[in-house]
Amino acid sequence: MKTEIKQITPETLVEAKNLILDGNVVAIPTETVYGLGGNAFDDDAVKRIFEVKGRPNDNPLIAHVHKDYDLSTIIDYDPPYAEKLRKAFLPGPLTLVYPSTGKVSPYVSCGLNTLAVRVPSHEGAQAFLKELNIPIVAPSANLSKHVSPTSAMHVFEDFDGKIPLILDGGVCEGGIESTVCDVTGEIPVILRPGLVTREMIATVVGECGEYTPNFKAGEKVKSPGLLYKHYSPRCQTLLFPATDVEKAVAICLRECENKRVAVLCEENVLSAFESFGITALNLGKTPTEMANRLYELLREAEKVCELLIAVEPTQKDGVMTGVLNRLRKACVSVDIQH
Ligand code: TXA
Ligand code: MG
Repeated sequence: MKTEIKQITPETLVEAKNLILDGNVVAIPTETVYGLGGNAFDDDAVKRIFEVKGRPNDNPLIAHVHKDYDLSTIIDYDPPYAEKLRKAFLPGPLTLVYPSTGKVSPYVSCGLNTLAVRVPSHEGAQAFLKELNIPIVAPSANLSKHVSPTSAMHVFEDFDGKIPLILDGGVCEGGIESTVCDVTGEIPVILRPGLVTREMIATVVGECGEYTPNFKAGEKVKSPGLLYKHYSPRCQTLLFPATDVEKAVAICLRECENKRVAVLCEENVLSAFESFGITALNLGKTPTEMANRLYELLREAEKVCELLIAVEPTQKDGVMTGVLNRLRKACVSVDIQH
């Protein structure tokens, strides 16, 4: 199959619509990362998404809808605080998990009785969703476990020959996936941190919890995606705490004798490595900048080095919670290894 990358125009939107209605998978831009879209009502299309990504079949998908879509078709109970969250943050990088009406394909939620719904703010994504006027399931458009894609070219690298069309909507502004927040209980609970932070949600509705899976007790995990290794570049990785820059430099100097080594760290730590001539990938200064660059740099790392030495940024809260969550899943932490 030939994979084409096309700019979003009225003509390519119709082409994408026809492909989706025929049961195909089409990659689309969003403001967070690119998604691999398919018709949420079509069992075979949903199964095809799992197959083409190599995704474990117990990790549910997010249904994407345009901003005027009638949610009552797909969700059952809508607590009053969820309405406040929609008003405050949507369209935007916040996915809400509701009780499902069960109208979408059962493969979407992998047997759970909930449905994750997202209204992306990206103009091209909105135009695509309006054109179709049905829920479109779209996991991040990367092969399972690989780094999520923030450009059409990233999608092409993972799916050349496997999908017919990639709609090119430019480089994603956000850079990490949406915040996933459960709204089935009395208060909202964050299942995956992202650009809409716990603090931002609490400001709007008073309270917001954060879910941490209890693996030891054998409890059923609320968001199965939490279980998997994710976002990893195809090179060895080591992640050092912000306080261990000196140790990271020492390991770099030892390892670069027989390997291509690169470093990934925030801007003000770069010089500690650059003075030794080590290739350094600059995450930036602010949390939003770091979110925006993270995946692009992890994909660059696998091209330029065999070993990536990453150093955690100093700041930990707000948007950095999401950035750190991805960085820790992408890289092997030094304190876990030893
Ligand atoms: O920003 C995003 O959310 C991107 C773009 C393309 O919209 N999509 C995305 O999808 O990140 P994916 O499939 O890579 O991640 C979906 C996450 C997973 O962690 C999954 O476990 C969780 O959402 N999820 C989906 N449905 C759920 C449900 N019913 N209950 C709990 N968690 C759910
Ligand atoms: Mg993903």
